[in-house]
Amino acid sequence: MIVKIVSKNFDIPDSHKLEVALKNGRYESIDKLFTMAPDDVTEEVCKSGLRGKGGGGAACGPKWKLMPPVDERPRYLIANGDESEPGTFKDRQIFEYDPHLLIEGIICSSYAIGAHDCYIYIRGEYKFFIDRLNAAIEEAYAANIIGEKVMNKYDYRMNITVHRGGGAYICGEKSALIESIEGKRGHPRLKPHGKECEWFFGNPATVNNVETIASVPNIVLNGYESYTKYGTEKAPGTMLFAMSGPVKNPGVYELQYGCKMTEVIEKIGGGMKDGLKLKAVIPGGASCPILTAEEVEKAYLDYETMWDIGSTLGTGGMMIIPEGVSMVDVAKNLIEFYHHESCGQCTPCREGCGWIDTIIERILDGHGTISDLTTILDVCETMNGKTVCVFAPAVKDIIKSLVEKYRDEFVAYIENTKEQGDAING
Ligand SMILES: Cc1cc2nc3c(=O)[nH]c(=O)nc-3n(C[C@H](O)[C@H](O)[C@H](O)COP(=O)(O)O)c2cc1C
Repeated sequence: MIVKIVSKNFDIPDSHKLEVALKNGRYESIDKLFTMAPDDVTEEVCKSGLRGKGGGGAACGPKWKLMPPVDERPRYLIANGDESEPGTFKDRQIFEYDPHLLIEGIICSSYAIGAHDCYIYIRGEYKFFIDRLNAAIEEAYAANIIGEKVMNKYDYRMNITVHRGGGAYICGEKSALIESIEGKRGHPRLKPHGKECEWFFGNPATVNNVETIASVPNIVLNGYESYTKYGTEKAPGTMLFAMSGPVKNPGVYELQYGCKMTEVIEKIGGGMKDGLKLKAVIPGGASCPILTAEEVEKAYLDYETMWDIGSTLGTGGMMIIPEGVSMVDVAKNLIEFYHHESCGQCTPCREGCGWIDTIIERILDGHGTISDLTTILDVCETMNGKTVCVFAPAVKDIIKSLVEKYRDEFVAYIENTKEQGDAING
């Protein structure tokens, strides 16, 4: 199940330092890169079937092809390391243990799309990781790996700038992220009707997740088959899966796509700790519909199978929930986060998150009614498909799944606490 491509060097002492990185294969792809034409690099990535690791799973190569032909305008690569979703904590492993792999991936990806400048947008709270990353970039500049030339010999200017986020989850959404780097408020942009690249200060840009970019050097160096031999037909290769909750070995593991979720929890996570029983799993970061224990039995870690059972793979951040945890509390915990993080630009999202939070708070206070559950589901529907970005539909997905799949629990909570609430409040 475990296949180490991106995480290959994570366990090597001082793997983040340039000297150690160079001894362990970092920057080896660059010589091969410059024997290839940029379009050939993109073709290789297309053939590898590499899919974005930022949550949507979009195919990486075809996305690069959305960049317009090279002209006089500057072109940009933007590496998305905002990583602010509850349950998602994988990109920080790359920042911590192999920042030079990210830099190598940035060189390969930028060359393919004709970009000479890359911005890395990193979660503002990641102070330690920001320092690690900046230190690695400084080392790379000092060794002339990047700068006016690449690897001190290839005539390709490559500059990397780190941009620290201000702590807003919405700034992980690619267009809000661009607005944020442009110095504006992090509000998502309206999307064009057709597919096109992103626009940064009016210039063509591609936004990729940090892990997506870190997956590219292996494909360049070893060819697409080195990637397609793992995973499934539609989701080749590997992904860093973060496992949290009361399992014996929580952590981040690089697995090939398609592993059976129960096996991953048992064999890699070590199973539930302290004799706890698994109640549910939120499979891919907080925004994915929850899976009941029965659904977990049918879950495989790839996009298609996960869609088939009504959820998504998202960022691969598996949140394990044991028996004994109240789903009303889970719903409150999550909606409080989304209420706080809604950027407020779209009314259905701003008001919807607020109202669901208020209603669940009321239920928790012992003043809920059974019709509140219908109201929550109605509000969810008003949030779906009516906003600029997919933040609101994602909130709908997780809240609706909680209320529908654990309705009995919500009903029991409302009925059991009613008297208590009435007594306290007269
Ligand atoms: C609310 C919201 C938050 C997001 N946060 C992140 C994030 O922290 N990191 C990330 O890579 N993508 C995030 N995304 C997805 C990005 O918009 C974008 O699809 C992704 O960075 C593209 O990279 P990929 O194709 O390599 O996955 C977020 C999307 C939404 C709607």
